Amino acid sequence: MNLIKEIQKTALVTGAASGLGFELAMLLARDGYQLVLVDVNDKKLQKAKEDILSLYSSEIQLMHKDLSQQNVAEEIFQAIEGKRIDVLVNNAGFGIYGTFHETNWERQAEMLNLHVITTTHLTKLVLKGMVVRGHGKILNISSLAAFQPGPLMSLYYASKAYILSFSEAIANELKDTGVTVTCLCPGQTKTCFQDVVTNGSKASENKIKFNIACPKAVAEYGYEAMRKGKIVAIPGNINKLLSKLPRFVSRRTATAVIRRIQEKNREV
Ligand SMILES: NC(=O)c1ccc[n+]([C@@H]2O[C@H](COP(=O)([O-])OP(=O)(O)OC[C@H]3O[C@@H](n4cnc5c(N)ncnc54)[C@H](OP(=O)(O)O)[C@@H]3O)[C@@H](O)[C@H]2O)c1
Repeated sequence: MNLIKEIQKTALVTGAASGLGFELAMLLARDGYQLVLVDVNDKKLQKAKEDILSLYSSEIQLMHKDLSQQNVAEEIFQAIEGKRIDVLVNNAGFGIYGTFHETNWERQAEMLNLHVITTTHLTKLVLKGMVVRGHGKILNISSLAAFQPGPLMSLYYASKAYILSFSEAIANELKDTGVTVTCLCPGQTKTCFQDVVTNGSKASENKIKFNIACPKAVAEYGYEAMRKGKIVAIPGNINKLLSKLPRFVSRRTATAVIRRIQEKNREV
């Protein structure tokens, strides 16, 4: 029993209460990982734990945390009390719709803290141990939004571009260390994300229903890419093509195309 505990691996997943985070947690539990699941939504997190335990006998630690707050990565790292993290999934995220100058700064700052600061800090804290041990896997969830600017969701697109660039850079630095970094860049996926993209106070549901992926399939694709140590993973052929848009047209045109898409997708 102790031997089993010793060789059992641990995965930390942020935003694990629903959508892609929950599906990724399921896959990790299936593969025998102990889980540390972090989310701002306590109720959904409890339910996620029950759902996972109904299928797999994983050891699950829940952490109710708002990852958009300062120093939260350090708090999480202290709370796991030196537990060895073999897999880190930086997944939690949300979107804000609207022109940059008209949208709420507090919410924008929270999004930047979540996507940029917490993702980066948690990676730094966990990565050191991984490098010393000579193995570990990091899966950062970016978006198709990472490949060009996104008017009307400017900070979302810019912060997802940061995650992609950061992931690719450190993946290169970590070559030959035994640690891999994978950046998953999904297109539209049927999760709660699409319901909570807001333009201030009012929810703004996506209207383009074409090319929407199922979260389970996207998670499986990302998980497999992480297992293989692939650096950038874009699920779906249409999404792979769309990610290359700025190579076929000027960046200015690509930006204008995204604006049209955003207007069609979310304007009421
Ligand atoms: N769905 C898409 O179309 C799509 C496309 C490309 C990329 N992505 C990315 O995929 C990732 C996962 O999103 P999803 O689609 O699975 O959406 P989701 O179903 O809304 O899941 C995101 C989870 O993160 C939690 N969360 C949000 N803010 C948080 C915070 N400050 N601290 C801790 N947890 C927080 C959410 O809690 P609440 O439910 O309480 O907010 C939710 O449980 C995100 O990074 C998103 O940007 C999604």
